[in-house]
Amino acid sequence: MNVRRGPDGHGVTAEKCVTCHQDHNLVGAHLPPGAPNWGLPPTSTPMIWQGLTDAQVCRSIKDPKQNKNRNLDQLVEHLTEDKLVMWGWNPGEGRNAIPMPHDEFVSKVKAWQAAGAPCPTDTDRASRL
Ligand code: HEC
Repeated sequence: MNVRRGPDGHGVTAEKCVTCHQDHNLVGAHLPPGAPNWGLPPTSTPMIWQGLTDAQVCRSIKDPKQNKNRNLDQLVEHLTEDKLVMWGWNPGEGRNAIPMPHDEFVSKVKAWQAAGAPCPTDTDRASRL
């Protein structure tokens, strides 16, 4: 359907993401899934973690210049409570949810925060994302 990102990541002209995607999954196979703020990152920060090592991903998600100006508490809230992120555990019929249970993910993120949000040391291993 020639869907395009657009400068803000929310589509172009009348073909905005929200033309088809609502704030919840539509029931049924191949119908548009949805969550609040459905969209891609803007073109200025497109999928910036792609190809980075785990250590680089860790540093970039903590960097306010790259994470929408979030401090650590706001980053943890985004990771654990943002409805668009939460969609990954409820992606709708025919799509695979994130394999780690949400509760387990939240406790790992909070343990990381409590430990001072350390980053791993650099390795050559690229992130699987
Ligand atoms: C013209 C309607 C339409 C527009 C506009 C549209 N989408 Fe979709 N999108 C769909 C439909 C329909 C599906 C479900 C396809 C399926 O499951 O076979 C879908 C599925 C998706 C999926 C899930 C893909 C998967 O793996 O199942 C994502 C992510 C997505 N769209 C993102 C976006 C984003 C981001 C935008 C805006 C830049 C956008 N879409 C604009 C119709 C649209």
